[in-house]
Amino acid sequence: MTPDVTFVIFGATGSLARTKLLPSLARAVLDSGVERHAIIGIGTTRRSHDRFAALVRTSLDEAGIDAPCTERFLEGAVAYHAVGEPGSFAALGDLVRSVEAERGLAGNRVLYLAVPPSKLDATVEGIAESGLDTSPGWTRLVVEKPFGVDLATARASNRAIHKVFSEETVYRIDHYLGKETVRNLLVFRFANALFEHMWDRGQIESVEITVAEDHGAEGRASYYDESGAVRDMLQNHLTQLLTLIAMEPPVAMTADAIRSEKVKVLQAVRSVADDDVVVARYGAGVVDGKQVDAYVDEPGVRDGSATPTFVAVRLFVDNWRWQGVPFYLRTGKMMSARTTQIVVRFARPPVCLVHAPDACPGHQNILTLRLQPDERFDLLIDVKEPGDTLDVRRIPLSVRYDDILSEAPDAYQTLLTDVMDGDQTLFVRADEVEASWERYAPILTRTDLDHYRPGSDGPESANELISTFPYRWTPLDGPDIAPSP
Ligand code: BG6
Repeated sequence: MTPDVTFVIFGATGSLARTKLLPSLARAVLDSGVERHAIIGIGTTRRSHDRFAALVRTSLDEAGIDAPCTERFLEGAVAYHAVGEPGSFAALGDLVRSVEAERGLAGNRVLYLAVPPSKLDATVEGIAESGLDTSPGWTRLVVEKPFGVDLATARASNRAIHKVFSEETVYRIDHYLGKETVRNLLVFRFANALFEHMWDRGQIESVEITVAEDHGAEGRASYYDESGAVRDMLQNHLTQLLTLIAMEPPVAMTADAIRSEKVKVLQAVRSVADDDVVVARYGAGVVDGKQVDAYVDEPGVRDGSATPTFVAVRLFVDNWRWQGVPFYLRTGKMMSARTTQIVVRFARPPVCLVHAPDACPGHQNILTLRLQPDERFDLLIDVKEPGDTLDVRRIPLSVRYDDILSEAPDAYQTLLTDVMDGDQTLFVRADEVEASWERYAPILTRTDLDHYRPGSDGPESANELISTFPYRWTPLDGPDIAPSP
């Protein structure tokens, strides 16, 4: 572990920094044995160093970090600088270097960009102007999603970044990759030969990936309305889950070996046809006795907005392993529950021996990986009912994460620790970003929005995408355990 680090956070007064980044940074610094650190917050409005320190204190306090830990974290230098005026980046460089000199820090720098895609290129140019990209220690650039808003902007941003930083020093954050249950997917697949033998078109009928949320834009509509379900969730979080489920075993568990296999999955995804996509948004309704406004009436949503809050898509991965297997991906806001789950439906028995013929279609092994909340996995299997009968009962073989793990570390803390350690495994590589935007290009312009009730599981039209039994999406609380025939 590095003995000292300087964190320079662009967008340090924004909601992401306040609610997630600063508390996770404090935990990462305090838990990982960093001896000395400095936090330099950057924003576009002027404020004093003390006012920024107060913001850090409040943010840690709201995240439940106790006062002694907060004070230990604040013992590192905390400074603030506003950029925007001519010369402000050069002044930033001077500030950072003088803080490092005062504190005897070696110049190991994490430059963290929590800025919108539209500001990314100018910020990277500003960093070059400040000279912060070169130091006696190491310098790493962290970039928050979204990485561009389409293929052209993602390419332009990658070019702008690569003018100043080599890819080996760039850490693009998709916080799903830092979740413990997501990290477990590779171990689950590649440490257990049991599943790997069945993980292909011969044994798997379909795969569903759902990220459902039970809230709306939550005061972030001015950001969300520019992004919508495709840019905010599908292109990144769901796509990461898809690549981890579909990738080939890497030649080694190294960052580039793993990331290269993920890119190959995206390269094999068939171009998405119009009838493989449903986009929708929620209207007004009553959820749990409370009136919910339609998305279009949320404060911050633009007049005439055509932003979807739900997207469902059927994808095919045209490679040797997955030819013909549909991957169904869906995500939405204001749905009936908050759930992230992957449902793998295995092939059915080739001959219907033990079930009544009309009950056969409902009997297949189903693996559900529940990534959040109530982290667990369940494998549905059929067993014989006890007694003088051949009747069958479906039971889940279940493992709950709570039973094996005392407390899952926070995703951002994991990722920030990896940045300090220089481990890029859980970060998105430039070619991966571009490959995923390329696949979703046909969806970005869709404005034919269907509607769904808030508190529901999305529009009925989304079921029409499902071409495999039971011709509906799996319920958000997992597959039905069908009654005995
Ligand atoms: C963020 C999106 O990246 O992920 C949000 O911008 C979304 O809109 C959030 O709510 C979901 O993250 P999690 O960890 O709560 O599933």
